[in-house]
Amino acid sequence: MLFLNLIQILRRIMLNGSTRVFAVIGNPIVHTASPLMHNSVYKNENLNSVYVPFLVHEDNLKAGLDGVRALGISGINVTVPYKEKVIPYLDECDEFAQKIAAVNTIVNKNGRLKGYNTDGEGFIYALNKESDCVLDGAGVVIIGAGGSSRSIAFSLSRYSLKFMCIVNRTLVKSRLLLKDIAPSFPSYALTFDDVSLLDHLSDARLVIQTTSVGLSPNDAQCVLPNFSWVSSGHYCCDIIYKPSKTMFLKKCESQGGCILNGKGMLAAQGALAFNMFFDDDSYDVFSMMRKVLD
Ligand code: ATR
Repeated sequence: MLFLNLIQILRRIMLNGSTRVFAVIGNPIVHTASPLMHNSVYKNENLNSVYVPFLVHEDNLKAGLDGVRALGISGINVTVPYKEKVIPYLDECDEFAQKIAAVNTIVNKNGRLKGYNTDGEGFIYALNKESDCVLDGAGVVIIGAGGSSRSIAFSLSRYSLKFMCIVNRTLVKSRLLLKDIAPSFPSYALTFDDVSLLDHLSDARLVIQTTSVGLSPNDAQCVLPNFSWVSSGHYCCDIIYKPSKTMFLKKCESQGGCILNGKGMLAAQGALAFNMFFDDDSYDVFSMMRKVLD
């Protein structure tokens, strides 16, 4: 018994010839929480695996992905600014990631790299876990039309929404996103100065802030000037997790809205990536990953 425990302890702290390697690539990468989330699950579940961050410069992106194949790295996550840029270097892309045109998870199966996107499904998973927001029949306003917004908007379009409104500084991007989704419910692309924005915000159940405005160290910045539309029936989400309460969330909360930060989505996209890496959804990975973010 003692001997078996000893072997287990050694396996936890030692890397050996059977260790599976996973990674996250991006630039910058120093602040990523992914190694902490994934390695804590490996440790808890006694998996002979390790997860490491790699800083990759853009002119090395292709070489980096060839390296994943050559070194037999089992899977990688992709973060800013490469979610779109990795696609040409993959062997395959699943249909959903192809529609979004962004990949955050790559699985290496016998040297063939397949891309997926777990951001939008992660958002919905976290929303269901951490709030009682009902999506069917909900009006949704999404602030921002970048990669994260695209993934969330595509995932939400599976539901019978009352409407989807995408507000973005650059109108052409929100228009293009709605054109790509081609939703069966009413949809509106707006800029921040559109006179109908306040009505859409008032009429929405779910408002999701996906821009980088308010991200640490710019904690005092806020993407909207007016919060008179918030009521206790509003679920207000910010996908930023640092700070854990952005100015956007503080203002929504002070008006009585139900608020949710980006930690749940971060943990959930990681948990879904884990399931793809290990081809196994029997672990309660979300709770383990969510816990280490607090
Ligand atoms: P991500 O992958 O995190 O979504 P991204 O694709 O670079 O990042 O998108 C960033 C989003 O934040 C965009 O919607 C961007 O608006 P534009 O499309 O007009 O560039 C939005 N954004 C960034 N800075 C902003 C600012 N100061 N005010 C309003 N929106 C901003």
